[in-house]
Amino acid sequence: MLRKLDYIASLGVNTIWLLPFYPSPGRDDGYDISDYRSISPEYGSIEDFSRLVEAAHSRGIRIIIELVVNHTSDEHPWFQRARRAPEGSIERDYYVWSDTTEKFADTRIIFVDSQTSNWSWDPVACAYYWHRFYAHQPDLNFRNPAVVDELLAIMRFWLEKGVDGFRLDAIPHLIERENTSSENLPETHQLLKQIRRVIDTEFPDAVLLAEANLWPDDAREYFGDGDECHMAFHFPLMPRLFMALAKSSSGPIRDIMEVTLSIPSQCQWAIFLRNHDELTLEMVSEEEREFLWDTFAADKRARLNLGIRRRLSPLLDQDRRRIELLHILLLSLPGSPVLYYGDEIGMGDNIALGDRDGVRTPMQWSADENAGFSTATPSALDLPVIVDPHFNYQAINVDQQDGDQHSLLNWIRERLCIRHHYPAFARGGMDFVEVDDHKVVAYVRSLGDQHILCVINLANQPLATSLILSDFEGFVPKELVGGQSFPAVAARPYTLTLQPYAYFWLLLEHRYTC
Ligand code: BGC
Repeated sequence: MLRKLDYIASLGVNTIWLLPFYPSPGRDDGYDISDYRSISPEYGSIEDFSRLVEAAHSRGIRIIIELVVNHTSDEHPWFQRARRAPEGSIERDYYVWSDTTEKFADTRIIFVDSQTSNWSWDPVACAYYWHRFYAHQPDLNFRNPAVVDELLAIMRFWLEKGVDGFRLDAIPHLIERENTSSENLPETHQLLKQIRRVIDTEFPDAVLLAEANLWPDDAREYFGDGDECHMAFHFPLMPRLFMALAKSSSGPIRDIMEVTLSIPSQCQWAIFLRNHDELTLEMVSEEEREFLWDTFAADKRARLNLGIRRRLSPLLDQDRRRIELLHILLLSLPGSPVLYYGDEIGMGDNIALGDRDGVRTPMQWSADENAGFSTATPSALDLPVIVDPHFNYQAINVDQQDGDQHSLLNWIRERLCIRHHYPAFARGGMDFVEVDDHKVVAYVRSLGDQHILCVINLANQPLATSLILSDFEGFVPKELVGGQSFPAVAARPYTLTLQPYAYFWLLLEHRYTC
């Protein structure tokens, strides 16, 4: 990682979100933690970690790590102790136990493809224990104050090591209650407020980023009144970006943005296209899910739980125009964009691998053995590199794209650079622009005097569209990549022509008249 920091900096990325690196049996790629205060020897040592943090900071890059505390591994000493501890003891109550599987019956199962119950029998404790994910991941019991203390101590431990924040994994599931869905309970929000108070008092620069895969109103609650998480992943937006593209319609984007734009002023959405999990379709209607499955996962092997286990490029049939289009949305809609490693070079996946492994294959750095990812013998790699005809590492890798002016990598770099230059993208307000064609989505991002008009053709056909830009009469649109000026906005609707899946980012410049 130390050797790759310059590459990350060259992208214009200012924060790295590290997936779990803790000691773990590795049955959920590290989301099954057996020790929260150290680093799995496969990845290095605490000293290596400190070096990484220091090197990242010296380049202006922050490090966000995973705080996976909804559950532990069943190999964690807390669980081993709990299952042997007397009923009613503090140690036993680190986890959630029951004599029957009837308790919390209204709580859904998340990993529907592999789990049939949220309860599993423990022969040592002679009781069932609660788990929202895999059976080897017992849920911690946050009604036990000793568990809350442990959580705060873990946070302090890593913040003192210099980390800049946490992704709060599976945060809606922290606390359960009878006759509820056991998600987003007021108790969970109280706990988040308690965590935030500690952060504000002791580590005011740290960031809490919620992983709350929920409907818009519920997802927004993770900001509280500005007193819970600073950021939250925008799960409701993500599938609707794919829907807008598949339906060639601005409707899904407009609808979701209208209900999620207002958040406390010090908070921000983290917007994304793909990540290390399946592309979740939990937060769309059943009909929409079927449509998205049919469109993007016709091959049933690509489906997992209620989602699609594919990377961005294969989802879009390696179509550069649509890959660009989704990035244009990602980089210009309100929120901080989060990129998934490898998507910047259009990496492929391997649906022959189990679970979500297909989207977690080694980064393709070069055409060298193991794609330049490792010097181990290929059979020793955790997951094989991609070798299929369209996405193999000899053809798709950083080395090759670095030197190609027209590569996806350099295209993305340039867009990130532009985005960085115009703070309206990051912190500006957003107003949709009326257009005469629902195949086009248009909006203005504004911060002070800076106004950027974004116009995107979601359809696979060329078209001319008229925009109502009455507030900008007399302004001159300047295209942000090439710097060309377009005709000034007049009193009548403004006409633009767009190629299939084409887009413009236009700075609206005021033309002063004396
Ligand atoms: C992570 C998954 C993981 C799950 C259970 C999620 O939110 O993103 O990768 O399997 O938590 O820990």
